Amino acid sequence: FLQGGAAVLGGAALALGGRAVVDAATADPADAAAPDDAAGRATVAFRGERQPGVTTRPQAFAAFVALDLVDGFDRDALVRLMRIWTDDAERLMAGTPGLADQEKELAAVPARLTVTFGYGPRVFEAAGLADRAPGWLRPLPAFGVDRLEDAWTGGDLVLQVCADDEVTVSHAVRLLVKDARTFTTVRWVQRGFRHAPGTTPSGTTMRNLMGQVDGTRNPDVGVEPALVWSSDDAGPAHAGSTSMVVRRIAMNLDTWDELDRDGREKAVGRRLDTGAPLTGTREHDEPDLDAKGPNGLTVIGPFAHIRRARSENTAERFLRRGYNYDDAPAPGRLSNSGLVFTTFQRDVDAQFVPIQRRLDELDLLNEWTTPIGSAVFYVPGGARSGEYVGQRLLE
Ligand code: HEM
Repeated sequence: FLQGGAAVLGGAALALGGRAVVDAATADPADAAAPDDAAGRATVAFRGERQPGVTTRPQAFAAFVALDLVDGFDRDALVRLMRIWTDDAERLMAGTPGLADQEKELAAVPARLTVTFGYGPRVFEAAGLADRAPGWLRPLPAFGVDRLEDAWTGGDLVLQVCADDEVTVSHAVRLLVKDARTFTTVRWVQRGFRHAPGTTPSGTTMRNLMGQVDGTRNPDVGVEPALVWSSDDAGPAHAGSTSMVVRRIAMNLDTWDELDRDGREKAVGRRLDTGAPLTGTREHDEPDLDAKGPNGLTVIGPFAHIRRARSENTAERFLRRGYNYDDAPAPGRLSNSGLVFTTFQRDVDAQFVPIQRRLDELDLLNEWTTPIGSAVFYVPGGARSGEYVGQRLLE
C-alpha cells in the first residue's frame, strides 16, 4: 500500500497523520517535502523605526559575524558603510540581488531573511560619538563561570543574519562582508540553527541540544515593548534602538549523558517531554516555586535553572533569541555543541547583568555549561523611509 501510494505521489512520499512516509528503497528523503516553496518566498519588512531580526519569529538558521574596524575608520566611513549595507540588506530581504551581487540567483530565496546591524564601543569612538554611547556599552563584567576565548569575544560591529534557509544566510553574509571589506576585518563567525521550517507545528518552542524545551518563558515584547526598545527619554538619536548580548555557551554533552532523566529535569526545574514546570502539566503552566514534595523539599530545587534565572524584580527580564551550534569536536572529544545565546534588552546593566550574576552565583546547569564567548552591541534604530540604518544616531 505504501509503495503504491508513494508511486501516485511521484515515487516520493505519502503523508500519513501529518508525517511524510518515505519509501527508503526508491525515494530521496528530500522529495518528501511538498513541492511548495512558500517558506522560501516569505519576506520580512526591512524598513521601520526598529530593525528586523529582534522580535521577528526566530528563523531556522543564523549567522553572527563580528567585524573589527580598520585603522582610520571614521564617521564618514561609518556613513558610507551603513548606506551600502542598508541598500543591500533591503534588496536581499526582498529577494532581489545586492548591488554588486555576483551570485544573483542565490538572492531569489529570501526565506524570511533578516539582517540586523549592531555596534560595539569602538564604533562610537571612531565616529566621534562617544558622548552618545549608552553607559552599558562595554564588555560584560567577568563572571566566575566564564572561560572566555578571544576567538569568540568582542567585536566592533556585528551582523546578525537569519533566514529559514541556510543557503540564503551564507549568500547574505558573503555579500555584506564583501561590502565592508575596505572598512573591516572579520573577527569571528558563529552559525546556529533551530528546527527547520515545516518540521514542528507552528508555535512550538525550540529544543536545545541538551534536549530541553528552550525559550518557554520569554517576554511578549508586543505587550511589554519597554523591555527591549529604547524609551523616549533616551532621545531621538536612540529611537527604536536596543542592545544585543551574544554569549557562546558550550554544553558538555558527554558529562550530561551521565545524568539520568530525573537529574536532568531537576537541573532546570522543567520536564523534558513537555517542557512543563515540575509543579505543572503543560509547558506554559506557571511554576509553583513554593510547592513542596513528600520529602518536605521544594519540588523546583534551590539550584534549579528556572528558579535562579528569574528575579523578583520584573524589570530584570529580556528577550532570549538563541540558536544551537554543533561544530566538529576537538581530537578525543565526541561533541562540540552549545548555544549561541543571544538576548535583546533595553539596558544590559539593568536587565541582563543581574540575572547572569545570579546564575553565576548558583545554577545547577553551570555543571554542564560554560560561557566561552561574550560580546555586547548597540543595535541602532531601523531605517525609516529614505533613511539608512543608524542615521538618527549620526545626525
Ligand atoms: C529558562 C536552558 C543559559 C536565562 C531556561 C529553560 C531552559 C534553559 C531549558 C526553561 C525553559 C524556558 O523558559 O526557556 C538554558 C541553557 C543554557 C542557559 C541550556 C546554557 C547553555 C542561560 C543564561 C541566561 C538564561 C546564560 C541568562 C543570563 C534564562 C531565563 C529563563 C531561562 C531568564 C526563564 C526563567 C523563567 O522565568 O522561568 N533556560 N539556559 N539562561 N533561562 Fe536559560
